[in-house]
Parts: sequence; C-alpha cells; structure tokens
Amino acid sequence: MNAGMLDLRVEAAQLAPAVGDLPELTAAERHSAVATWRGRMVNEHISSRVFGVLLGQAMAAGLSARRQTQIAEFACEELRHARQCASVVAALGGEAVAPLPALPGVPSHSDAEPLEALLRNVVSVCCLAETVAVALIRAETLEIGPPQLLHLLEGILADEVGHARFGWTLLDELAPLDPPLRERLSAYLETALTHLVEHELLHLPARGDMGARAAQVGVCSGLAARQLLFDTIDTVILPGLARHGLQPRDSWRHRQGPLNDEAAAGQVEAGQPA
Ligand SMILES: [Fe+2]
Ligand SMILES: [Fe+2]
Repeated sequence: MNAGMLDLRVEAAQLAPAVGDLPELTAAERHSAVATWRGRMVNEHISSRVFGVLLGQAMAAGLSARRQTQIAEFACEELRHARQCASVVAALGGEAVAPLPALPGVPSHSDAEPLEALLRNVVSVCCLAETVAVALIRAETLEIGPPQLLHLLEGILADEVGHARFGWTLLDELAPLDPPLRERLSAYLETALTHLVEHELLHLPARGDMGARAAQVGVCSGLAARQLLFDTIDTVILPGLARHGLQPRDSWRHRQGPLNDEAAAGQVEAGQPA
C-alpha cells in the first residue's frame, strides 16, 4: 500500500497476456502510447469514486434499488477499466504505476434538496462527461489495430454507454421536471459545462496525430479529439438537455471559444477521459 500512488503492476501482469502482441513501434510512439494508457488508467480509477458519492446521493434521494445497484456497478466498472488500461501499459512494456493526482471532493450540493443535489451530479457526470467519453472512445475504436485491443476498448465503450444512458434515462423518468427545478438546474449547467471543457482540454493533448501506427495502439490526434468534444456538446449534449427544458445561459457559449483557443495554444500532455 502506498498512499498517493496507483500501483496496478500485479493486476496488469495478470491481464497483459490477453492483450496479445502489439505492433512494432518506435521509441517515441511507444513512449506516447504508454503515457496515454497510463493517464487513462489513472482517470478510470479515480472516476470510480464519483459513482461512490452518487450512490449515497441516490439513496438520500430515494432512487429505486435497481438504479442504486447500477451506480454501485458503475463504480466497479471504472475500477475494472483502470486494470484493463494497466494491462495495456504492461503489454506495451511500461510500468502500470503512477502518482495519483490531488483528488478534489465530489460536490455534495448540500444547499439543495436531495433529488436536486443528485441531479446536478448526474447531469454533470452522466449527461456531460460520460457522453463525451462515449464519443471519444468510439472514435478511437475506428482507428485501433490489434483485435484484442479493439475488443478491450469496445468493452470499455459499452460500459461508458451505460454510464451516459443512466443520466439521460433518469431525466426521461423524472420528466417533466418542475419549472423552478428546471431553472435552477439550467443555472448550474453553466458551471458544469465550463468544468467539463476545462477538464477535457487538460487531458486531450494539443497536438495532431502521430501517424497510423500510433493510432493503432490508441494514440490519436488530440486536436481531432478536441473538435469532437465541442461537436458532441453542440450536437448531442445541448440538444438532449434542451429536450428536458435544461438550457445554459448564452454567456456560457461566449466562453467556449476562448477556452478552446487557450488550450490549443498550449501546454498539455497525454491522458484520456473516463
Ligand atoms: Fe464511465
Ligand atoms: Fe470508464
């Protein structure tokens, strides 16, 4: 046990044979691939704790036992995704160990009634972050090469679809939301969308592709992924929320451009969404 570190080397060694042989890579391609899968390993691992918090909120809000069970399963799935990503790190010849970043608390929204507090997090996690994850991972599966790696990624994708769908179907189930609740959730959307964009841009590298061989092992164009992020917000997330009467104020839109440009100019290194 080592606080502050995520060490999945034992689990990775057990699972790595299932990943099979990977294509020959240059040292630079291998370095990028290991960094990408290690970053993803960390992100998958820490996203499990988000569902841990959601479970408590779902109990407080009186969600059905079926939905509570789903949330608990989602937490386990994220932990499994982390182990699967670790196995790819090992198959690439890397070490499946990494420092854990500082873990900001998942907001409890104690200023709101239990259902509203839950809905803020469900919208933020499922309808926003997990919906973006579905788009990004689906795009990656179109480029991935080795069949075993494709199989692994498609398994993760199927789970992420379930995580996103949980949010959208909960909104369907609760429709129509009371107008005052709708308004307060709409106001919260601006915060949630801004956080989503900042978080994703931090993890999607501001660079183009590294060639077909790298894409075959999951190192895709960060710039294309950033474009897909904004396309998903515009064509899937905002229309989906609008169908439930949830709309951010226009001021959010004006911040979208600068946020994109700033990060595109910049700084960032590997990693992927949950
Ligand atoms: Fe997920
Ligand atoms: Fe995941």
